[in-house]
Amino acid sequence: MKMCGIAGYTGKRKAGELLLKSIRNLEYRGYDSVGMCTLSGQGIEVRKGKGKVSEAAPELEFSSLPGTTGIAHTRWGTHGVPSEKNAHPHLSPSGKIAIAHNGIIENYLQLKEELRGADFRSDTDSEVIAHLLEKNYSGSLRDAMLKTMKMLNGTYAVCAICADSGKIVVARNGSPLAIGLGVGENFIGSDVSAFVEHTKKVVYLEDFEIAVLGEDSVEVFDREGRQVSPEVKKIDWSVECAQKQGYKHFMLKEIHEQPRVVRESVSAPFDFEMETRPERIFVVACGTAAYAGLTGKYILEKQAGIPVEVAPASEFRYSNPVIGEKDLFVAISQSGETADTLAALRLAKQKGAKTLGIINVRESTIAREVDSVVYTAAGPEIGVASTKAFLSQLVALYRLSSKLSGKELPLSSLPGKIEQVLLRSKSIRETAKKYFRVYNFLYMGRNFNFPVAMEGALKLKEISYIHAEGYASGEMKHGPLALVCDEVPTVAISPRDSVYPKMVSNIQEILARNGKVLAVATEGDREISGQATDVFEVPETEEELYPFLTVVPLQLFAYHVADLRDCDVDKPRNLAKSVTVE
Ligand code: F6R
Repeated sequence: MKMCGIAGYTGKRKAGELLLKSIRNLEYRGYDSVGMCTLSGQGIEVRKGKGKVSEAAPELEFSSLPGTTGIAHTRWGTHGVPSEKNAHPHLSPSGKIAIAHNGIIENYLQLKEELRGADFRSDTDSEVIAHLLEKNYSGSLRDAMLKTMKMLNGTYAVCAICADSGKIVVARNGSPLAIGLGVGENFIGSDVSAFVEHTKKVVYLEDFEIAVLGEDSVEVFDREGRQVSPEVKKIDWSVECAQKQGYKHFMLKEIHEQPRVVRESVSAPFDFEMETRPERIFVVACGTAAYAGLTGKYILEKQAGIPVEVAPASEFRYSNPVIGEKDLFVAISQSGETADTLAALRLAKQKGAKTLGIINVRESTIAREVDSVVYTAAGPEIGVASTKAFLSQLVALYRLSSKLSGKELPLSSLPGKIEQVLLRSKSIRETAKKYFRVYNFLYMGRNFNFPVAMEGALKLKEISYIHAEGYASGEMKHGPLALVCDEVPTVAISPRDSVYPKMVSNIQEILARNGKVLAVATEGDREISGQATDVFEVPETEEELYPFLTVVPLQLFAYHVADLRDCDVDKPRNLAKSVTVE
């Protein structure tokens, strides 16, 4: 599996009802199929099907499953098409053990070969775990899991139950797994949103650890079966953070949370020190996080005068990067689980670079592996399209720049200005109504607003499925200008900054070719509003700070266009919130 949600419950309440809520909360992690099983006097009963929880749940009636112990799964598959047979949980041949898995079992074909003659019912890599557990079982699911873990190559968070006992056994290697500690009940989740409404106490398993959960006990063991005492942490966000709170979509709510997120990110702890100034900085990330990184390059080079290289993690890891002990490697990731970013980090460490993570999800794999971590204060980001995490990553990069240069920018003026942009959401929707049937969009910007053009285009394409490309405005003449016509509008990010006159020329080039221009401009800019077809205004600010403001109307524009096109904004097709495989 690429990225899935796993939930588990054991206690005195009806597992079916509780787990249904848990997988709804985890659905942002994947949503091609869904399943649940519970344990009762009748053994293990499994129900599963294709589609999102909301599509499958009414027919499968999860809430009516009998029993007070169970596991559930929402899937985003890599092996096997979305279907009932490929949905989790998977049963062992006799039906006495059931598992849900997140990750990828790399040697599953070889293991299947070794289990020759076994009757596999799915096309998944995961089913092999259920078979191995049964083969290795001689009365203790814990012991079977310890044996099985040694046979698996790849990444996994596995959650298993056995008809012989009311306990849940979980194992982890490289895929996230959290255990919620309740009173007379215990919980499992791929992340804490699975159970945050029931408990704030959490244990994160380390790689190669397993845990055995009963209603009154949680025991954790290392790979040799020795009991270890896990650290119990406190979840520092509330249930409301993971709810829509009246907004139609999480994405809209998260866009509106940005003033608070920036305010908190500006004052959050920033625990990063380097004894010597780095010779070079490498910023490595994927997607939106990489565009935050690219913005970081502009500020770091301008303020701190340190050369910065920005690379998509998927390229960095295969490019024989010349990086060493005198360099700083910065990994940016909302989820802290992105496979390419993690692999790039490991490579940088191998080469001796000092590493810093700018990470949102606490205790995630990347956060654990970097030398220093700065946690962004975005809170849980549920919408697949990243918005508030982007702004919080920008704050972290600007703070890093201040730290390295000793120069400060008035970041605390930003929340109020972002609020002013948000007040224009309605008029942005009106503009979206004019454009939501268009098939292609161009986005262009210069200097600090070049990454914003890339990010604006990414937002539009990923949630509305409209083709959109971002360019450095100076590049338009070198090719993309050929696309400009009255059917291909251009979004021009053109606030009043040092490259403004050049942007005005670029806008005129578009207009001269019958192109429509949607300009992001500084409030009261008559020159731009006199020329552009439509204008999204942002308050005036320092040149370096414009990305914090100019990206917001682009997020809102993408949102409203997607909503007008009836797209599933929070769960765009073919995408998942975090990509834990290459
Ligand atoms: C786009 C988006 C993705 C992520 C990318 C990196 O809206 O969400 O492009 O930014 O997959 O994910 P993280 O930050 O979790 O490493």
